[in-house]
Amino acid sequence: APVVPTLKEYQAAADYLRSRIPADAKPTVGIVCGSGLGQLFTLLQEPVSVDYEEIPSFVKSTVAGHAGKLVFGRLGKQYVICMVGRFHPYEGYTPQQVTFPHRVMALLGIKLLIVTNAAGGLNESYNVGDIMCIADHVAIPMIAGNNPLVGPNMEEFGPRFPPTSDAYPKTVRKHAFKVAHQLGLLNKVHEGVYCFVSGPQYETRAECRLLRSIGGDAVGMSTVPEVVIARHAGIAVLGFSLITNRVVSQREPSIKEELLRELEGKTDKVEEKVVHASHAEVLAASKDFATDVLNLVRKVVEELHTV
Ligand code: 6GU
Repeated sequence: APVVPTLKEYQAAADYLRSRIPADAKPTVGIVCGSGLGQLFTLLQEPVSVDYEEIPSFVKSTVAGHAGKLVFGRLGKQYVICMVGRFHPYEGYTPQQVTFPHRVMALLGIKLLIVTNAAGGLNESYNVGDIMCIADHVAIPMIAGNNPLVGPNMEEFGPRFPPTSDAYPKTVRKHAFKVAHQLGLLNKVHEGVYCFVSGPQYETRAECRLLRSIGGDAVGMSTVPEVVIARHAGIAVLGFSLITNRVVSQREPSIKEELLRELEGKTDKVEEKVVHASHAEVLAASKDFATDVLNLVRKVVEELHTV
């Protein structure tokens, strides 16, 4: 995708996709499958799969665990577009490239965007395998200017100064929690604040404490640029983070104190047992616990007529 796409480029991609899907199958819901959640598309009825490479101006995804295709299909009465594989800022894409598909989905007429991701748990009460429904976000790169809305505003999509105080509209979240209740998942579905960081390094301990102290419940490297582009275009958003690991935020035992104890002849060491974040751990957990998120997203869409 161009570093900063033009309206024509968004439109060309949308036109191409319209040519690939049945004329009566107007998609109303977009779904972004996060790490390990790519199997979502297998739930779709009458699927039509389009590789990103085939679409004019689309980008290729580069991380292991992230494929690259759009799958159209039906879930209950709703036609949906599933992004299997997303683009991340840490891959080197510009914020506009990361969100190119979302503006194309906006042109295709989606009314709701469901974003999913794998995230680290900052909130001490979250366990691996839990799900956080995103109620709000903190996007440090974006408040500092690394943001897809920076640049000339495209009035065709939305206003220059869009609000984000209702980034994750309440009615959709209420619907999600009713569905979570029906699935017996209320014990493991939380509601919290997602912190977007650029990565690709996982956070230091001090950074984890910082993010927790500013109100973060989960941390990850995606999603928020996509959410802001969708909200700019007037699309409702629902987000789920699958907690794949718990961040390490406790201070390391002091080496100076360890030395002082040794100088006093004391040999007892303060050993800490921590698991450092790794991509392998994140992928393993997202594979093990993906089912609940998939069922939740499926039923949220199938029951949308009840909202
Ligand atoms: Cl611990 N940090 C970040 N930035 N992203 C993650 C994560 C942690 N766990 C899964 N994704």
